[in-house]
Amino acid sequence: MSVINLKELTDMQVTHELMNEHQLILKYIDLMKRYINFSQANGEDNLLFEKAQDFVDFIKVFADSYHHVKEEDMLFKYLQTPGVLSHCNPLPAMLSDHEQGRIFVQNMTEAMSSENKNNFCTNASNYGQLMQQHIMKEDNILYPMAEEGLSDDDKIALKNEYKQIEEQIDKQHIWKKFQEKHLELESCLNNKVTE
Ligand SMILES: [Fe+2]
Repeated sequence: MSVINLKELTDMQVTHELMNEHQLILKYIDLMKRYINFSQANGEDNLLFEKAQDFVDFIKVFADSYHHVKEEDMLFKYLQTPGVLSHCNPLPAMLSDHEQGRIFVQNMTEAMSSENKNNFCTNASNYGQLMQQHIMKEDNILYPMAEEGLSDDDKIALKNEYKQIEEQIDKQHIWKKFQEKHLELESCLNNKVTE
């Protein structure tokens, strides 16, 4: 009898990379909250607003056009196969969270155009809260259900679909770009804090 080693087990997981993506999304949400807290504590209501475009770019490109597409058009599609989600079906709630998130981001974009700084901060904060709860549900409930319910054949097919969008969007490039941008935004805030 052959024994599956840890590497082979990880290779078969279809939610591992999605969880890595969640970590970067959470890092941006955390930083956005730090910007809001700093502004409120120091009466600098425009600090987050100055960086609004950078945060909105990350959410639209990485969180929505990359991560959520992998979920909605790929993972969720396989999970809809009858019998895969045997206990309950969290997909409608997950899709509804994604939609609500898009509404907050749309509000953030509109607040940028009308230069309504308060409105931008309120919607950024609402987006952060929503996504923190959403990611907790996916990491702890939906993803384990996916790992348990999907067949090995489905997992291989799904991984091939991920690969297509990862190549199309240039995974290495997008990660590097947004990790560097996060460092830049973080150091900009840290400099303000120590001023
Ligand atoms: Fe997600």
